[in-house]
Amino acid sequence: MKIKRLGVNIDHVATLRNARGENYPSPLRAAIIAENSGADSITIHLREDRRHIRDSDLKNIKNKLHIPLNLEIAPTKEMLKIVLKHKPNYVCIVPEKRKELTTEGGLNLNRHKTFLKKMIGKIKAKKIRVSLFIEPKISDIALSKKLGADCVELHTGKYCNLFNKKKKIKNEFSRIKKSAFYAEKVFLEVHAGHGLTYKTAYQISKINNISEFNIGHFIIAESMFISLRKAIVKFKKIINK
Ligand code: PXP
Repeated sequence: MKIKRLGVNIDHVATLRNARGENYPSPLRAAIIAENSGADSITIHLREDRRHIRDSDLKNIKNKLHIPLNLEIAPTKEMLKIVLKHKPNYVCIVPEKRKELTTEGGLNLNRHKTFLKKMIGKIKAKKIRVSLFIEPKISDIALSKKLGADCVELHTGKYCNLFNKKKKIKNEFSRIKKSAFYAEKVFLEVHAGHGLTYKTAYQISKINNISEFNIGHFIIAESMFISLRKAIVKFKKIINK
């Protein structure tokens, strides 16, 4: 069985820093600890309102990291310019609404079709891997392929919500499983992310077509109690059980 990779999202280290307007805790320090603890990549989301990660964090982390940096961005001209300037190793294009607490759903590919195709082409020309954050839906996977993406990241938020509320998860699990199978069949690398905990990551990791997990909020929350290193080591074991 292939080894599943873990991307560690450190946005919420910046959330904590910004809550008091201080210069600690440092997202760069978290990125370095994550790298030394076995993270396969570091994910940061540069939001349009800069509510957590800032442009200076992107610059500092990109300069110091030895593992790939995955930059999440909205499909906008401003973000495309930033990507072409800083050249992260990976880009994941995500939807963004200013008032949302977190990324609420997958990209509306149809609405952004023309811009996305152009944006993906320009990013790939710099040899940067491009992923699209989408709902686990066959039509969105087919369109992602058509738009030129290298990977799709399947939104696991709905599954996690149902699981946490002890509601029926069978249909949503099956939607993710079928989507992962189809995506791999059309030669897209399959990733999963959003809302994952130890329990839900273990369930989703049973889907063999998924090769990468991007996990943030729960890892940072766990790090308060058991340390960032231990949370990362534990997740890596869980997704490869
Ligand atoms: N993947 C993507 C594309 C995301 O936008 C996010 C949230 O920023 C995550 C993964 C991580 O989600 P969480 O913080 O809930 O683990």
